[in-house]
Amino acid sequence: MSRIEKALEKAVRLRESDRGDESLKPDISRSAEARINNNYIVTVTRPESPAAEEYRRLKSMLIKETKSDFLNAVMVTSSLNGEGKTLTAVNLAVTLSQEIDHSTLLIDADFRNPMTHEYLGIEYENGLSDYLTGGIDISDVLIKTGIGNMVLLPAGSAVKNPVELLSSKKMKALIKELKQRYMDRYIIIDTPPVLSCTEAIAMGSFVDGVIFVVKEGRTGIKTVEDALNMMEGFNILGVVFNSASISDLDGDYSYYYYKYKKKGKE
Ligand SMILES: Nc1ncnc2c1ncn2[C@@H]1O[C@H](COP(=O)(O)OP(=O)(O)O)[C@@H](O)[C@H]1O
Ligand SMILES: [Mg+2]
Repeated sequence: MSRIEKALEKAVRLRESDRGDESLKPDISRSAEARINNNYIVTVTRPESPAAEEYRRLKSMLIKETKSDFLNAVMVTSSLNGEGKTLTAVNLAVTLSQEIDHSTLLIDADFRNPMTHEYLGIEYENGLSDYLTGGIDISDVLIKTGIGNMVLLPAGSAVKNPVELLSSKKMKALIKELKQRYMDRYIIIDTPPVLSCTEAIAMGSFVDGVIFVVKEGRTGIKTVEDALNMMEGFNILGVVFNSASISDLDGDYSYYYYKYKKKGKE
């Protein structure tokens, strides 16, 4: 190799190392413009509303809690179904993706009741379950949503063995890989509830932290305690009190109130 060729090769290498691990990142070529017409996705439909403001507060708390070691893989769960996990995960992902410094990957790991794509109004072919059962590449299941820097990894085809798939080594490796490849990216994972399914418990050790959603006025203390006991050892970053207090200000929409509370503090 001539000196000029060597110099050129070195320049290419330097350019590549400048881009960090860019070359390792999967190509996110798929995109599906989100079409949100669900009023619960307040961060999009009513960004000025008090509820949207609460999600921005939740985001700020999360960034504050996680910034020292950038604990960027966060699972959203609750004791029971219907407490607002998915709404919290989607609204949080939307507000995070509006941050200049961060992008967001929202993963739908609730194979029993996948809802993220419904709330976002996104149609897709393959998702996480299809990737985990094999045969397709991760770049085939990551979808740019058109909302800020937000990418969706939807749940995928219905499967009979959600626990096995979500607790598998392949799932663990996927989260690790996505975490390492996107150092500035928050990974928000929507999961099934801890008391009726075991997926969230299995995935708890794959993530950096947990946001626990409690629907106020619906879920009793004993239920919450049972769920928290099941998550012993997990890094609970905070609890979201999600309460549908229907104090309708303009006669058209219900308003909801979310509070974020760091565990152990008032
Ligand atoms: N803060 C809220 N205000 C009004 N309705 C809510 C609120 N949170 C949840 N809901 C209702 O509960 C349903 C289930 O919410 P979702 O986030 O899908 O629950 P989960 O994922 O925990 O099963 C929503 O479609 C909505 O009808
Ligand atoms: Mg849900």
